[in-house]
Amino acid sequence: MKGNELRQAYLQFFESKGHLKLDTFSLIPENDPSLLLIGAGMAPLKPFFTGKLVPPCHRITTSQTCMRTGDLENVGRTARHHTFFEMLGNFSFGDYFKKEAIHWAWEFLTEVIKLDKNRLYVTVYPDDQEAYDTWHKECGVEESHISRLEDNFWEIGEGPCGPDSEIFFDQGPEHGCDDPNCAPGCDCDRYLEIWNLVFTQFNKMPDGSYEPLQHKNIDTGAGLERLASVLQGCRTNFETDLIYPIIEATAKRAGVTYNDNPNTDVSLKVIADHARAVTALISDGVLPSNEGRGYVLRRILRRAVRHGRLLGIEGIFLTPLVDVVVDILGPGIKSIAEKKDFVKRVVQNEEERFNQTLEQGLELLNSLIDTLAAEKATVVPGSEVFKLYDTYGFPWELTEEIASERGFTIDHEGFEAAMKEQRERAREARVKEDAKVATP
Ligand code: GLY
Repeated sequence: MKGNELRQAYLQFFESKGHLKLDTFSLIPENDPSLLLIGAGMAPLKPFFTGKLVPPCHRITTSQTCMRTGDLENVGRTARHHTFFEMLGNFSFGDYFKKEAIHWAWEFLTEVIKLDKNRLYVTVYPDDQEAYDTWHKECGVEESHISRLEDNFWEIGEGPCGPDSEIFFDQGPEHGCDDPNCAPGCDCDRYLEIWNLVFTQFNKMPDGSYEPLQHKNIDTGAGLERLASVLQGCRTNFETDLIYPIIEATAKRAGVTYNDNPNTDVSLKVIADHARAVTALISDGVLPSNEGRGYVLRRILRRAVRHGRLLGIEGIFLTPLVDVVVDILGPGIKSIAEKKDFVKRVVQNEEERFNQTLEQGLELLNSLIDTLAAEKATVVPGSEVFKLYDTYGFPWELTEEIASERGFTIDHEGFEAAMKEQRERAREARVKEDAKVATP
């Protein structure tokens, strides 16, 4: 099943269960200062959970575009870390609850996309006997396939949250670790979490306390790329049809082959993930800048450009990848296809700007690290990190990543101090300018 077909099958299934299908919401949160970007399917729906707004229907289903940048440096280095992904979700606002959510998830997995029941495992919150019994007595899941986990409580910042029940797919012992207690919830690749059912009963307040919600809700999240990887028998999400065409196009441009060299593969995966993220962010109206969401975009885009350089690509390569991304995502995310030309202009502009200074910046950083290494130092001074940022447009995180590849750390405090000094100089210059203008 293709990724786009999977998305459609999911949404249609929940429409058949009385859900209203909505298009993805923008990655830019609306009226929610607690979030920089939408990071879960439920995030744009928070006011419906809390009762602040009345939903257009008490059952909603979406495939929501999401961004998570908490561990950006892992993207490209593991099978499943992404900045951008889509989350399939079915939601109930004071309507159905635990039993229906569990039954429908089981029905979709075993009857619609026909996953092998013997390879499915579930976990429940330790004292959630109702969830346990529903899985075991009503869905027929063997007790050996159910475990109770303290970790089964889901929340993202402030807002609606609650105990959850997770569904795992057993990828087989060859993906496992040596731990004799390896089971769902283990960090290794054997048991892959494919769906999370959250029984949303609380509202996490800004002070960290939990207030019971007026009514009980359901919030579920299933990563589209992950589920596609299971259905398509792929080793990683990157090999699914939702991402692989970007890897192919980049490999062709670079004259390299995927799966040939681990370093090259990291760069191909970074670029594939980031090309999707950049396209989605810009099409939702984020523009590169030095703060907030714009900085997230700039950082991701420039990281991708640097990995293009590592692959030996000269010149513009990210801009044409927008076409490939839109071909993949367009059928499911209408807003992306409409904005394609605009996205390409923004990417090209930023790519050209960074290309002008990338080479010099890299030369400077590499020779600096050579000198520091000769002096047996292990930290790149903050003033140098600042120079790379200010003169060569290197987000500090990029400098940190390149430095760490050579066993170095960076001086964060020194960098912050240099930034502060620059802001003060700029403020003083503005005051002087204003004084000049005010003097007749
Ligand atoms: N909101 C459920 C999840 O993101 O897993």
